[in-house]
Amino acid sequence: MTEHRIPARDLPPGVVRRAGPWAVGNRDGELFGVSRRCRHQLGDLSKGSIDADGCLVCPWHQSRYDVTTGEMVAGPHGFLGYHGKTPGYTQLVRSYGKVLKLQVRRVLRRGDDVVVE
Ligand code: FES
Repeated sequence: MTEHRIPARDLPPGVVRRAGPWAVGNRDGELFGVSRRCRHQLGDLSKGSIDADGCLVCPWHQSRYDVTTGEMVAGPHGFLGYHGKTPGYTQLVRSYGKVLKLQVRRVLRRGDDVVVE
C-alpha cells in the first residue's frame, strides 16, 4: 500500500493540503485525512478550508463535512458554475452525502512529516 506524506511544516493549524488521494488538514493541532473528492460534483477538498466549527468546506459550492465521520453536514450552495441558494437541491444532495460519506483516514505526525495511514 502506498504511503502518502507531506512535510509537517506545510500543514500549520487551519490549513488543508493534498497528500495523494487524500485531503489532510490541521484543526487546531488535530490532524485529519479524508478522501479528496467532494460527494457533490467532485470538487477537490484539499483546496477547501476549515470553518469555525472545524468542518471541512468544499471550495466549489461550500458543502460542509464532519472530518471525523466523513459525513456531509451541510449541502452545496449551487451546482456547476452557479453559486447561490438552491434549497431543495441542497437538501437532496445532503441526504445522499449523509450516506455516501467521505473515506476517513488516521493522520499522524512522524518525524518531520505528516503521514496518512
Ligand atoms: S463540488 Fe463540493 S460542493 Fe459542489
